[in-house]
Amino acid sequence: MQAFDNNLTSVIKSLKSSYGLAFFNNLTLQLHQLINADYTFIAKIDKERYISQTISLVAKGKIGDNFEYSLNDTPCADVSDDSVCIYPERICQLYPNDQLLIDMKIEGYLGTPLHDSNGEVIGLIVALYESTIINSEKIVALFELFSGRISAEIEREDKEKKLTELNLSLEDKVNERTTELSSALDRLRFTQDKLIEQEKMASLGNLVAGVAHEINTPLGVAVLCGSNIEDALEKLNSKVKSNSLKKSELEHLISILNQSEKSLSFNLTRAANLVDNFKEMAVGINTDDLMSINVHLWLNSLIGSLRPMLHKKSITIELLVDKNPPNFITCPAKMSQVITNIISNSAAHAFEANDDISDHQVIISAKVCSDILSIKISDNGKGMTDEVKDNIFEPFYTTKRGEGGTGLGLSIVHNLIINNLSGKLEVESTVGQGTSFNLEFPSLI
Ligand SMILES: Nc1ncnc2c1ncn2[C@@H]1O[C@H](COP(=O)(O)OP(=O)(O)O)[C@@H](O)[C@H]1O
Ligand SMILES: [Mg+2]
Repeated sequence: MQAFDNNLTSVIKSLKSSYGLAFFNNLTLQLHQLINADYTFIAKIDKERYISQTISLVAKGKIGDNFEYSLNDTPCADVSDDSVCIYPERICQLYPNDQLLIDMKIEGYLGTPLHDSNGEVIGLIVALYESTIINSEKIVALFELFSGRISAEIEREDKEKKLTELNLSLEDKVNERTTELSSALDRLRFTQDKLIEQEKMASLGNLVAGVAHEINTPLGVAVLCGSNIEDALEKLNSKVKSNSLKKSELEHLISILNQSEKSLSFNLTRAANLVDNFKEMAVGINTDDLMSINVHLWLNSLIGSLRPMLHKKSITIELLVDKNPPNFITCPAKMSQVITNIISNSAAHAFEANDDISDHQVIISAKVCSDILSIKISDNGKGMTDEVKDNIFEPFYTTKRGEGGTGLGLSIVHNLIINNLSGKLEVESTVGQGTSFNLEFPSLI
């Protein structure tokens, strides 16, 4: 008895800090030795499948492989129905259809149910003997002594397993969502790039339309001069042929020819200049080419190309710039886009055809000082509220959604000035008074 108690104390001590499989194997092995069984096991019960599955098994003093077996016709079925089963002998006669017990030549059977915290049977502890069991009551009492701790460990392990599964499925979900989000982000970036490209093309379109309009006027005059010259030459020819040319007529025709030729060459030169200017301005609209520009000529031709757009809303544009500023090195294509976008916005947002502002005005002033080009573009239009002003550089922010606004114009301006041209920009706007953009660019030598 003393030896048994000592052994029991050492079993309890040894279980103190073990968990999971180590706990089950350790306990089963020690119980097995304490009770002198031939087979001892702890098993879990699966009521749906009506099977029992060992989680720790000791056979003849050694840890064995776990296995599962059907509960049909077994004493374990009675244990799983919440009975303590004590059959010190002749178990095979009592359960003649339990082939396993018969094959193993088992004589005595002891089984105790294991309960979870709700009182449900979740498993069992079983000891099998090849000979008659002598002290079965004591052994069952021992099983009952440990059953609480075993059940708690089974429950803890199940919960840990569920938690790990939950964690994994949560990780899967997070990964899935991350993939979805990153592909949505890619799609968004692609769309944004496309819209930015469209906006660039739109501002190029504005320039082209403006230039076409500007060139049309001198070319129209030149065509007229050409036909005047043709008429005058025809008259001259026929008078000479018929020998009827009077001096006064000759003088008149010569004066027509002179005037027409002057006008023709003036207008053709103007058209050629416009084309040159446009080339200069549009040079690689998508390139980063640096050029030395004359700020006056550059702004003048840029404004010329924007005039038709401003004309539609009866906006006059005034340029205040020193006629001979020092040359300035920059990327004119990007600068042109900045100015075009800001002025297009005055046309699109500052004025309405039927508003009560008497003079629709845009004023551009520019100066180059110590290698810094400062440009101020002001309109006397309707201005912006603080809320609008705070958002204008956000991509896709527009107050004209559905009316042609993309909300990209000023975000492109911001990006070009800050990231590409290393410049600064500031906006002042007062409702009912107008808007000013103050820009500053360093020379990009
Ligand atoms: N000169 C201006 N006067 C009044 N509002 C302006 C002016 N310039 C820009 N805005 C406001 O800033 C917003 C953003 O401009 P922008 O980024 O160019 O987009 P979009 O022109 O496509 O609307 C406009 O929708 C408008 O509300
Ligand atoms: Mg715009």
